[in-house]
Amino acid sequence: MAKIKRRYVCANCGSVSNRWQGQCPDCNEWNTLAEEAPETVFSAKHSLAGGGRPITFESLATPTVPLQRQTTGLAEFDRALGGGIVPGSAILMGGEPGIGKSTLLLQAAASIARTGADVVYVSGEEATGQVRMRADRLGLTDAALRLAAATSVRDILTTLNAGSPPAMLVVDSIQTMHSDAIEGAPGTVSQVRASAFELIRYAKENGVALVLVGHVTKDGTIAGPRVLEHMVDVVMSFEGERSHQYRILRSLKNRFGAVDEIGVFSMEGHGLAEVINPSMLFLSGREDPVPGSSVFPALEGTRPVLVEIQALIVRLQSGATPRRAVVGWDSGRLAMLLAVLEARCGLSFSSAEVYLNVAGGYRLSDPAADLAVAAALVSALADKPLPNRAVWFGEVSLAGEIRPVAHSSLRLREAGKLGFDRGHGPDDANKGENGSASKASGKRDGGLAFSPISSLAKLVDRIVGSA
Ligand code: TYD
Ligand code: MG
Repeated sequence: MAKIKRRYVCANCGSVSNRWQGQCPDCNEWNTLAEEAPETVFSAKHSLAGGGRPITFESLATPTVPLQRQTTGLAEFDRALGGGIVPGSAILMGGEPGIGKSTLLLQAAASIARTGADVVYVSGEEATGQVRMRADRLGLTDAALRLAAATSVRDILTTLNAGSPPAMLVVDSIQTMHSDAIEGAPGTVSQVRASAFELIRYAKENGVALVLVGHVTKDGTIAGPRVLEHMVDVVMSFEGERSHQYRILRSLKNRFGAVDEIGVFSMEGHGLAEVINPSMLFLSGREDPVPGSSVFPALEGTRPVLVEIQALIVRLQSGATPRRAVVGWDSGRLAMLLAVLEARCGLSFSSAEVYLNVAGGYRLSDPAADLAVAAALVSALADKPLPNRAVWFGEVSLAGEIRPVAHSSLRLREAGKLGFDRGHGPDDANKGENGSASKASGKRDGGLAFSPISSLAKLVDRIVGSA
């Protein structure tokens, strides 16, 4: 006997609740739960342990054909993908509206079409005239890609099934697609899932590389790409500040490669340009040191990027609750670091406003940034500039110790190459590649001297103690 059950689905993470709540119990977003078409639930009276078809088992040693990857014509895009697009794979390209997803994919699609491959670009957001105008501006009109404006998945698949399958299909965006197999407006969780499911099935059956664009919005008015993450092979995120020039393409999930590589682009008047050597991009390049500014040698995959971290501390006279504002870093991590500085070093931030900014619209996710942030905070609080040509890295524990981090020597080497002369980091960072410790403060690759720091208290001594 089937019974009807009400269910509420979160537009951000796709989790299902039996009753409506203001806040999603899984992802803690507010006002993202909405009622979905009722699901028919069958009571489990009969067993599933009979009447099916037998499945075949294979060994891991089954010979597989090596992956043929299609290059996108943009080396930075290929790099983030782990070498190019795998035919028959489904890629989800997430990012905030206006960050440049359509621009990036139009450039990649046109470049693939120029190699003679059949590429279909379906826009559900823009009229073909708009896309053509953009292509004109980007100088891509000579590429023979097939362009259409459509939102009905049935129309799209009927059309594609009538001919031979393309090598690549771009659907911009999945939130505008509509499947008539189920109820609901485009952009709801069930519509986004059903449309993506049909498109992915078509792509897998026909060996088509599928790229789905997914907008990420904070207000939860449309279902976010997170509800699709498990259905696709590759999840990419296109990040940056709209007001800044630089964009980072990150892979969050990749069934065909590593996930920590990034691609760096800059948004120019004629579209996205690749940034081949980004290590200096996020430095202000100023000569005279200012208090509250430190340089962090970040590592993105195998690629070092030097990033400037800026802290500002404003003492409050009144008893008002002080503000903490962070751009480009995790605010929870800042709160933790402030607490450790208070508890272990006796510094007081409780009556001061703290502002933290990562230069150039960069978003830091590397845990080794702790020490650089702490150095910027202490320097701002003491109103003492840090030495101009120093870099800082290391993870801070709750006990105030500086923990070792991955790839210390790579970070130091890059900083040395770019003209920095001193690295401050965890103790064991001075160990050579073979694990043997060289002399503390000894010269390293690129003429960089290394000063190990074991605790935050030592960091404070080093900054406040130095003239
Ligand atoms: P778009 O690709 O439409 O973003 P999305 O698809 O992620 O919503 O890019 C929009 C922004 O990019 C727009 O605000 C203008 C900027 N832009 C340039 O600066 N130069 C260009 O050549 C193009 C095409 C866009
Ligand atoms: Mg777009």
